[in-house]
Amino acid sequence: MKDQIVSNIEAVAGKPLLTTHPVIDTLAGRLRPLAARVNAELSRNRTPWQPFAELASLDSRRSFVKAATHLLPQAAFDTTRLLAVQPPDDIHRMQRSDPYWIGDFFSANMIVHALRACRLDRPDQTVLDIGCSSGSLVRMLAAYEGSWSLHGCDPIASAIDWAQAHVPTGRFFHMNLKPPLDLDDASLDGVTAISVWSHHRPDAAELWMAEVARVLRPGGWFAVTFSSLHHVRWLARNPRVRAAELEAMLRSLAQSGNHFVPVRYKGEDADTDVDWGQSCYARERFFGMAYAWFDVAGYFPGLNQGNQDVAVLVRRGGGQP
Ligand SMILES: C[S@@+](CC[C@H](N)C(=O)[O-])C[C@H]1O[C@@H](n2cnc3c(N)ncnc32)[C@H](O)[C@@H]1O
Repeated sequence: MKDQIVSNIEAVAGKPLLTTHPVIDTLAGRLRPLAARVNAELSRNRTPWQPFAELASLDSRRSFVKAATHLLPQAAFDTTRLLAVQPPDDIHRMQRSDPYWIGDFFSANMIVHALRACRLDRPDQTVLDIGCSSGSLVRMLAAYEGSWSLHGCDPIASAIDWAQAHVPTGRFFHMNLKPPLDLDDASLDGVTAISVWSHHRPDAAELWMAEVARVLRPGGWFAVTFSSLHHVRWLARNPRVRAAELEAMLRSLAQSGNHFVPVRYKGEDADTDVDWGQSCYARERFFGMAYAWFDVAGYFPGLNQGNQDVAVLVRRGGGQP
């Protein structure tokens, strides 16, 4: 039964793939002059890495960037503005398994890939990451695109305080659970939101989308991930998720265009269990909500790890992308 659900979804939605990795490639290229020093450090430190040579594979380029940042932190910062510092265990962040973590490579590649495809990856932009946690995407985008002025906001005060103290390449501020943000109208060129609209209850999602529209200038972009059919397919891989649950989700997507289950996440804000949870959309419903303020510049189903879709929306009322 679950196999059938997966193959039905694949027939409709296809298999997503991130085909370019501009952030890893660019940062590895900038750090390349440090390769001899990184290799010399490898012989003095216990690390999982062998000396780096050609950097021919994506994996080797990613590892090289992490090794350079950890082994030569000052030189890596001076060259790229990458930071080796990691939030401690009691500070919110999503990826925790990698001891050499230096920020959210995957989301940064995904956002730049999507913006490039839409020809919106211009220099000198003011960009906000809404729901930034402790700044894992902000710090990576700041390293990649030095001309951007990067801001992050989140309701988790401890995560924002940590980012403000340890990530000098971004500016961070606290946001409330309900709009408005502490920003002027039309003050931003771009907004990113990774795994945030996948959690808002639909009425809250709409209020927050109106708020993003308010703070973006006309022609400004909103790169947002959301859950749709690919999320159901992704859930189906989990042996603990029963076919009946998936069927219930598909039924409510067909009937109302959304499936919402309130969840109180450990480590996130404790007062959000009414408006916050797992929110999955039929894509028509999601874009129906966006059309009130935005045109759709790009749509990348399942691009966020095969789990969530990526939409690049452009604030109506100004120049075209
Ligand atoms: C799943 S995490 C994703 C964090 C980050 N964007 C990432 O991809 O690593 C969701 C984030 O959205 C924040 N958030 C934003 N708006 C929220 C709201 N209205 N209620 C609760 N949490 C919210 C949470 O505090 C949390 O940091």
